[in-house]
Amino acid sequence: MKYTQELCPILRKEQLNATTFSFLVKSETAVATMRCGQFANLLADGKTLRRPISVCDFDRAEGWIRFVFEVRGEGTGILSRKSEGDSLDLLAPLGNGFSVDPGEKAVFVGGGIGVPPLLGASKAYGGNATVLLGFRSRGAMILTEDFKANGADLRIATDDGSFGHHGFVTQLLEQRLDEADCDAVYACGPKPMLMLTAAAAEKRGIRCMVSLEERMACGIGACLGCACKTRREDGSETYRHVCKNGPVFDSREVIWE
Ligand SMILES: Cc1cc2nc3c(=O)[nH]c(=O)nc-3n(C[C@H](O)[C@H](O)[C@H](O)COP(=O)(O)OP(=O)(O)OC[C@H]3O[C@@H](n4cnc5c(N)ncnc54)[C@H](O)[C@@H]3O)c2cc1C
Ligand code: FES
Repeated sequence: MKYTQELCPILRKEQLNATTFSFLVKSETAVATMRCGQFANLLADGKTLRRPISVCDFDRAEGWIRFVFEVRGEGTGILSRKSEGDSLDLLAPLGNGFSVDPGEKAVFVGGGIGVPPLLGASKAYGGNATVLLGFRSRGAMILTEDFKANGADLRIATDDGSFGHHGFVTQLLEQRLDEADCDAVYACGPKPMLMLTAAAAEKRGIRCMVSLEERMACGIGACLGCACKTRREDGSETYRHVCKNGPVFDSREVIWE
């Protein structure tokens, strides 16, 4: 895993809803080897441990990276108070990312703050991507115009029925997989959503890649803080690091607990 520490000036800051922020930063080194689905470890001033935030999107030629994060506690609160012109101190790119193939028909399934890493991953697919997003309510929706601008077939579910399908995003997934062919499913979101997504894909023999979230400390495979139980090809069990071996895993490897 080759990563770099970089101070990245914030080019654009936007507030997407009551608790979610988007930062577009200038990068010269980290962006050079970046892949969608990887993450960065961001330094929140005054905190020893960095905070892991997924790469939402990036452009190597233009030299920018976009992060979208929700304020959950002190660290993300400190980050959210940064302004355009300040810099983000990041370690990146970390983790293994999605292996995408824009020639395939892919379905992307995102829930809540698991949605951002799917934006960059689905971009190259244009109209070949079906993007299914689930949110608590209309007020929690993020990035929908960005997915539309990329040409994706976008379908939305809300838990309270305030927008789109009233129910879970995994119900939209079952419908989509029954409706037309699909070569691969990519998912990021809460664990119950990932488990149902994996089951829907696996029962149809479709490859499914899931991005897992575990509490992290070092973010580089050194502290054993982010272990998750996985299955080897021979069926035996082993622990792997979400930060180093993931966060993206083939769903068939994951032992859901
Ligand atoms: C690979 C990965 C990608 C992520 N991508 C995003 C993203 O794109 N957008 C987004 O909003 N959130 C993302 N998260 C979750 C985000 O890292 C946490 O919300 C954030 O670390 C909370 O920090 P805090 O100081 O605000 O909260 P606190 O709860 O005060 O955090 C205390 C400590 O716990 C760690 N921690 C807390 N929650 C998590 C968590 N869920 N995962 C890992 N470490 C945690 C923090 O690093 C810190 O050390 C991601 C997590 C992982 C593991
Ligand atoms: S966070 Fe330290 S090993 Fe993964």
